[in-house]
Amino acid sequence: MPTGHVFIATSLDGFIARKDGALDWLILPEHATEDHGYARFIKDIDAIVMGRGSFEIVKAFDPWPYDKPVLVLSHRLARADIPDRLQDKVTVANLTPQAAMAHLGQQGARRVYVDGGQVVQSFLREGLIADMVLSRIPVLIGEGISLFGATGRDIHFVHEASDSFPSGLVQSRYRLKS
Ligand SMILES: NC(=O)c1ccc[n+]([C@@H]2O[C@H](COP(=O)([O-])OP(=O)(O)OC[C@H]3O[C@@H](n4cnc5c(N)ncnc54)[C@H](OP(=O)(O)O)[C@@H]3O)[C@@H](O)[C@H]2O)c1
Repeated sequence: MPTGHVFIATSLDGFIARKDGALDWLILPEHATEDHGYARFIKDIDAIVMGRGSFEIVKAFDPWPYDKPVLVLSHRLARADIPDRLQDKVTVANLTPQAAMAHLGQQGARRVYVDGGQVVQSFLREGLIADMVLSRIPVLIGEGISLFGATGRDIHFVHEASDSFPSGLVQSRYRLKS
């Protein structure tokens, strides 16, 4: 089974997007001059799994931001819903978190980037997240899509390090407590 890894940004009040999915509060000009470690993170990743909610936003990005295979989890999307330009880069499947990881493992993935609020929450509940890099943007947006939600139990992490950047972004790294 591959391990799951989270690299995600939230507002100070814990949202990953506005209610309509907007990320305007997150993508700031001052971040362009800062290295938040994404390139180092993604280098060690073999595949990406995200929910339909995240895919609906990212599918419009041009150029396509990923050079690793992307698996989109959805109960309703089909292969025909994937734009032509992404057909060889994205697959869509209706799989449980465990089945999604097993599927990616069969394809040779060892480290999987897990992205999207609901998807991260479901993978956390299943114990499939080994570590998380959380970047906190110093803004309250009041309402939006939450990164975290019901867990069903306490899930303990070890805090490895935190770094702050001139823009005010604070990044913390956590690994699952064994
Ligand atoms: N701040 C950041 O760093 C960051 C990072 C990533 C995403 N985002 C933002 O977060 C928003 C999306 O988050 P989200 O919590 O709404 O959504 P999400 O986790 O990306 O997607 C949720 C959807 O994925 C499908 N899904 C989830 N688990 C599934 C499973 N096991 N099997 C089948 N389908 C499954 C369901 O869609 P169906 O209805 O199709 O079944 C569900 O509604 C977007 O606006 C995105 O831009 C922000």
